[in-house]
Amino acid sequence: MGRVEGKIALVTGAASGLGRAIADRLAEEGAHVVLTDIDTQAGEAAAREIGGDAMFLHHDVTDGARWEAVMAAIEDRHGRLDVLVNNAGITLMGSVEDIGWEQWRQTFAVDVDSVYWGCRTGIALMKRTGGSIVNIASGAGIKASAGLFAYNAAKAAVIAATKSIALHCGQSRYGIRANVVAPGAIRTPIIDKVLAQVPDPDAMLKGFEASHPIGFIGQPSDIANIVLYLASDESRFATGAVFSVDGGMIL
Ligand SMILES: NC(=O)c1ccc[n+]([C@@H]2O[C@H](COP(=O)([O-])OP(=O)(O)OC[C@H]3O[C@@H](n4cnc5c(N)ncnc54)[C@H](O)[C@@H]3O)[C@@H](O)[C@H]2O)c1
Repeated sequence: MGRVEGKIALVTGAASGLGRAIADRLAEEGAHVVLTDIDTQAGEAAAREIGGDAMFLHHDVTDGARWEAVMAAIEDRHGRLDVLVNNAGITLMGSVEDIGWEQWRQTFAVDVDSVYWGCRTGIALMKRTGGSIVNIASGAGIKASAGLFAYNAAKAAVIAATKSIALHCGQSRYGIRANVVAPGAIRTPIIDKVLAQVPDPDAMLKGFEASHPIGFIGQPSDIANIVLYLASDESRFATGAVFSVDGGMIL
């Protein structure tokens, strides 16, 4: 038996990076995975490569109506939802003086509104049978950087929102747990997009490594494995917690 055998799992932003690694890992351990993303080509390819009954749906996580449609499609296909991984996110670099209003709004739309919609529509379906919500925040939601103004604020909001959700679901006896994973730097396309926004990417990469006391940055499987634990019944007593998987970055 796999560690999440038979569970129905939705992973957003699953066409790339951490989302893809999480979907792969959950499927390896027996989950029926639903991958969503705005990148249809890569998302469809990922679902094909995972095989079995893995399904891809085009889904902009800022769009509340689309969230309703995604949950309806999951209910039609599987009848329930056991695991929701709110993973899709973006990082726009800049200090409080650099980040324009549009960038601030865009960061909050993708990184925070997604959690609002995902948890509201997800809880509506999950509360019939219970389940596990995993919100991917960041070490940057705990430890600030001058040049990550909008991202710091957005990921801190995800952490606080998750604690409130965990309390509500616990007190309501829904059998739904909600936890945060706060990764340190993990080499995925998001890091490449950040490096592309700065004048000296090599120096920034060395800086990332130096800021992780363990001496290296992580790989997607480091995050996929903690999400697997939180998705499984092994973590049945964990809720409202922030799981830092960051090589000691926030210490
Ligand atoms: N990689 C890291 O170092 C790191 C560290 C801490 C936290 N995180 C967080 O992990 C999550 C995944 O990051 P990643 O490194 O895999 O990034 P990534 O850029 O490789 O993947 C993000 C995915 O989200 C999708 N996406 C972007 N906007 C979307 C939208 N509006 N609707 C639906 N999908 C959308 C992209 O198409 C992409 O497939 C993000 O929330 C990120 O903030 C990453």
